[in-house]
Amino acid sequence: MKVLVTGGAGFIGSHLVDRLVSSGYDVRIIDNLSTGRLENIQGHLDSGRVDFVLGDIRDLSFVKRSLKGVDVVVHLAALISVPLSVENPDLTFDVNVTGTLNMLRACAEEGVGRFVFVSSCAVYGDPDCFPVSEETLTCPISPYAESKLLGERCCLGFAERGLLEAVVLRFFNVYGPRQGLNDYSGVITRFVDFCRRGVPLVIYGDGSQSRDFVSVYDIVEAIIASINCAEAEGKIFHVGSGKPTSVNELAKMVIDLVGANLEILYQAPRVGDIRDSYADISKAKKWLGYEPRVCLKDGLRDLLDR
Ligand SMILES: NC(=O)c1ccc[n+]([C@@H]2O[C@H](COP(=O)([O-])OP(=O)(O)OC[C@H]3O[C@@H](n4cnc5c(N)ncnc54)[C@H](O)[C@@H]3O)[C@@H](O)[C@H]2O)c1
Repeated sequence: MKVLVTGGAGFIGSHLVDRLVSSGYDVRIIDNLSTGRLENIQGHLDSGRVDFVLGDIRDLSFVKRSLKGVDVVVHLAALISVPLSVENPDLTFDVNVTGTLNMLRACAEEGVGRFVFVSSCAVYGDPDCFPVSEETLTCPISPYAESKLLGERCCLGFAERGLLEAVVLRFFNVYGPRQGLNDYSGVITRFVDFCRRGVPLVIYGDGSQSRDFVSVYDIVEAIIASINCAEAEGKIFHVGSGKPTSVNELAKMVIDLVGANLEILYQAPRVGDIRDSYADISKAKKWLGYEPRVCLKDGLRDLLDR
């Protein structure tokens, strides 16, 4: 089976590519390397096991050419920065909506069987009822979240018209090796960086806010299941750990694992940060056989040991 991974040189995409290659899938990547890095997939390029095509999903004719012989598409390519989406919504919509529509059009024309679209828990905005289920009302509060919700609707629309099989995965807070480090990185990536530099851990707000942290290795298993599970077609699934962890608990866990006497600095909450979030993952368990296997402590230990 040939799988095309858009955004395959990025954080999540490159872990998916590792898993696909090790299971014997034929893999092609398209990526414009805007945030992705060749070093994430260099081993596969050197061994000739993966076909890498440099290009942009906003270019419809490029997308059509890259789909020859492809059976399944996992669409991860996106602009994922919420602040960037506020500064430049046009660019975010161009990549995340027009790019997705290009992929869908080209897949329908080229007869690609299955399209797995990667969305985000951001579509719920700041929910007040927990755990968040797939039935919870969506209420996007950033252009990034709006663009992801529109992308989902486009996919399900193509599926309803019988043009392809679509599966939508809504990821919660993904962490793991290779995640990009910047001011707006996930809190785990920032905490690990603070520990490496031996500087205080900065928490925005009082730290009681909670998140659903899920290892990239669990995420990858959910994607593989969504490629192969016939019953997943036309459905939306949450992929998270199913457990809330407060940022204070996270900081304590990290400090205990490092064994150093690191200070915590509390700063003003960031505008637009949500209060709490955690997923009901029973639907993914039922249909995809999804089971999160990496507990947060082990995932953190693995990151800190690198
Ligand atoms: N990281 C998380 O916690 C998280 C949570 C929910 C959803 N997601 C979704 O998972 C997907 C992957 O996210 P990630 O964390 O790996 O981010 P990432 O930035 O590492 O990966 C995105 C990839 O897409 C590529 N890309 C961007 N624009 C492109 C374009 N126009 N044409 C071709 N390639 C392009 C980038 O170069 C990069 O390799 C995204 O769709 C994101 O919305 C991530």
